[in-house]
Amino acid sequence: MKITVQNKNGELAFDCGDHETILYAGLRQGINLPFECATGTCGTCRARVASGDVEVRWKDAPGGKRLKPEKGDILMCQAYAQSDCALRVPSELVVSHKSAPAMQRGVIRGLRRLTKDVMHFDLHLSAPMRFRPGQFVVLEVAGIAGGRAYSMVNFDSEVSRLELVVKRKPDGRFGDWLFDASADESEVELFGPLGRATFHPGEDRNFVCIAGGSGIAGMMSILECATRADYFRDHRAAVFFGVRTLADAFYLETLSRYAASSRGNLDVTIALSDEAVAAPLHAQYPNLKLAQGMVHEVAGKGMAERDCNVIAYVAGPPVMVDAALRSLIAGGVPIKDIRYDKFS
Ligand SMILES: Cc1cc2nc3c(=O)[nH]c(=O)nc-3n(C[C@H](O)[C@H](O)[C@H](O)COP(=O)(O)OP(=O)(O)OC[C@H]3O[C@@H](n4cnc5c(N)ncnc54)[C@H](O)[C@@H]3O)c2cc1C
Ligand code: FES
Repeated sequence: MKITVQNKNGELAFDCGDHETILYAGLRQGINLPFECATGTCGTCRARVASGDVEVRWKDAPGGKRLKPEKGDILMCQAYAQSDCALRVPSELVVSHKSAPAMQRGVIRGLRRLTKDVMHFDLHLSAPMRFRPGQFVVLEVAGIAGGRAYSMVNFDSEVSRLELVVKRKPDGRFGDWLFDASADESEVELFGPLGRATFHPGEDRNFVCIAGGSGIAGMMSILECATRADYFRDHRAAVFFGVRTLADAFYLETLSRYAASSRGNLDVTIALSDEAVAAPLHAQYPNLKLAQGMVHEVAGKGMAERDCNVIAYVAGPPVMVDAALRSLIAGGVPIKDIRYDKFS
């Protein structure tokens, strides 16, 4: 099928297969269609069908709440073309084949429980992948409707294995499957890499990371890239990692190693929302600081003592991300310098 996307600056056409969404078809052909979550929750990929037939698979997707289906509005990440289609999109369109995402298969191995509700695992890829730190992939498993986005934890210039981490949510289908079924050696389909909340050492800026729970995933990838590039030789960074209690925190050994090798230029603070802090430093990893409070408040206080000329990375549950964005903007960080992923 041929999809033509139009906006006020012109139009572009691309092919779309039977088994891929219109969003994924456009992205894999290098067209910068608008999107954020790629999984139906944010509403960024909205478009209006001018002609042709489209099947929408997840009709109740939360990202579609403000759409007008009677006028032909769709979420491109949930839409499958049934014929050639023309769509109107609100944003400017350009083509770039640099690191375009692709569909491939992966095998889950090395499942490792990090806390009572956090699982780390490796995804062995059928083809090597290049990605930017901070990016994510969308996984699909047989028997579970729809895709789930997970941010890469590891980083290298090219990888044949992704490290991913999942925080189980109550009644979450992917989380339940991963924790309860024997997911080891299971095959999944994946699409990626995706996401624009990325770290680029060439930008030459100090940075701050604010993560809630498994939002730390992409920050680990950023820190790995920065550490390998010896970025902390002449840049500073602060990481604020929010969890309920210290027992809910993970990756502490790795975070401590990054801080230790940073020549004092990387500050890591674990913010505990539901537990009093007995000492300002972690007993086992004394180069990790502890603070009590919601992570956006702890970060807000920490930022008040620092330079605001930073790139800020934020990831975690939507409520936490929104609070962190308000806190950063109130602290003087311009919105153009804030990159975020809402884990909805
Ligand atoms: C950019 C991004 C990065 C993320 N990174 C991480 C991460 O690194 N670690 C982590 O723990 N979480 C991450 N998440 C959240 C993750 O994608 C899941 O939402 C979460 O794990 C809960 O999945 P679940 O299946 O357990 O819960 P469910 O409630 O069963 O499903 C949650 C999500 O699945 C999709 N979905 C549900 N039902 C359908 C359906 N019928 N059809 C189509 N789609 C459906 C939707 O996207 C929904 O929000 C990320 C989210 C985003 C947007
Ligand atoms: S990108 Fe489609 S709803 Fe988020």
